[in-house]
Amino acid sequence: MARSGTLSVHLLLVISLSAIVVAAGGRALPLNLLRGFERPGFSRSFHRIYDTSKYGIFQLNNGLAQTPQMGWNSWNFFACNISETVIKETADALVSTGLAKLGYVHVNIDDCWSTPKRNAKGELVADPKTFPSGIKALADYVHKQGLKLGIYSDAGIYTCQVRPGSLYHEENDAKQFASWGVDYLKYDNCYNLGIKPKDRYPPMLKALNATGRQILYSMCEWGVDDPALWAGKIGNSWRTTDDINDTWASMTTIADLNDKWAAYAGPGGWNDPDMLEVGNGGMTYQEYRAHFSIWALMKAPLLVGCDVRNMTAETYQLVSNEEVIAVNQDSLGVQGRKVNVSGTGGCSQVWAGPLSRRRLVVALWNRCSKAVSITAAWEALGLDSSTSVSIRDLWQVRITRMSQKMLRPRSLHR
Ligand SMILES: *[C@@H]1O[C@H](CO)[C@@H](O)[C@H](O)[C@H]1NC(C)=O
Ligand SMILES: *[C@@H]1O[C@H](CO)[C@@H](O)[C@H](O)[C@H]1NC(C)=O
Ligand SMILES: *[C@@H]1O[C@H](CO)[C@@H](O)[C@H](O)[C@H]1NC(C)=O
Ligand SMILES: *[C@@H]1O[C@H](CO)[C@@H](O)[C@H](O)[C@H]1NC(C)=O
Ligand SMILES: *[C@@H]1O[C@H](CO)[C@@H](O)[C@H](O)[C@H]1NC(C)=O
Repeated sequence: MARSGTLSVHLLLVISLSAIVVAAGGRALPLNLLRGFERPGFSRSFHRIYDTSKYGIFQLNNGLAQTPQMGWNSWNFFACNISETVIKETADALVSTGLAKLGYVHVNIDDCWSTPKRNAKGELVADPKTFPSGIKALADYVHKQGLKLGIYSDAGIYTCQVRPGSLYHEENDAKQFASWGVDYLKYDNCYNLGIKPKDRYPPMLKALNATGRQILYSMCEWGVDDPALWAGKIGNSWRTTDDINDTWASMTTIADLNDKWAAYAGPGGWNDPDMLEVGNGGMTYQEYRAHFSIWALMKAPLLVGCDVRNMTAETYQLVSNEEVIAVNQDSLGVQGRKVNVSGTGGCSQVWAGPLSRRRLVVALWNRCSKAVSITAAWEALGLDSSTSVSIRDLWQVRITRMSQKMLRPRSLHR
């Protein structure tokens, strides 16, 4: 795997204007949001910078994904090489490592779990060679651990790996998933007959809803037809881009593409820049730290994509950082975004977003290979110039002092 050699050291900070605690949460979020971030402290441009105008207008009413979903998915590491043993051992590992307790509860099987053909009754069948006990038994196993089981299908006639797709079989397949005890559906976009996603994705929502079982609906239509503009009413999350690769170039490209839709995310429906590659070996520790930080800040679903049965200490340290997870799972549910780009080649970037309790999360992100000094001006963050704050570095790279007007740590380098 080619390495980019890119330096990605950054700080991930939480800025707190605390004292006033705003009870954010529940459904009346836009109001709370406005209440929490009025002046003094926050500037007139605050709501322009973080564009809260569309926040909360779309919410899928199935009660799920009030914060971005967390868990694991088989694809990034295993691709088609999956079995019930891998899924069970992964569930065991999520529990034994403590990741489950930190919120990683969805155990999601991706493509290749089923036979190449439906059975005589037209039903999907788990591959008897790799899933001999069947999906129901696997769901029972996973549920006993306090976890949830996710499955995969496709809004086309085949899945991407040419297993049967659910297009025109939505009702029966949804019923079957529900009868097995499935809690989550990732719904892909291959072999779609050229029919628009807007026509192919709603029938599965209707079918899932009709089962009466709460099943998180994760739309994977690759960002075709700008799903942020319409998918909030259809899915709990929607992919905004093509598949991620385990490279710095892919990860940064996807982060930038996903940023465009920040205004549309909120409790119940999230932009999905694809699953995590942390721990798969294609990026450096620093690069993975940037990956995890930005995914957390962007309120992306946090689906670990490595072999959690065999994580390195470094990988574990990254994905188990409770304060970074708390940024992702913050009750306010506003997607952070890129608020300033400066320096030669746009290397110095500031990404930020509002959190509950009058706090902001701020990432100082060096996107290039040379050490740089990154400044986050209060103005760019939406703070009044006279505002005093306390600052906490979530990766504890360096203690940052109380500051006014701007945040300017010493040069950031590896
Ligand atoms: C598939 O998984 C098995 C067991 O999990 C492993 O031994 C084997 O090397 C894997 N094969 C590939 C091609 O990754
Ligand atoms: C089905 O949809 C209705 C209306 O949006 C909603 O109130 C209900 O919670 C949904 N049920 C499930 C199981 O998703
Ligand atoms: C990832 O790699 C595949 C080929 O393996 C390529 O088709 C795709 O465009 C890449 N995606 C990105 C975002 O770089
Ligand atoms: C565990 O990961 C290491 C690399 O971190 C690798 O060399 C080893 O083969 C893996 N072991 C298994 C059983 O997959
Ligand atoms: C971005 O930040 C730099 C450094 O603080 C500042 O000079 C520049 O004016 C900012 N740009 C914008 C568009 O706010």
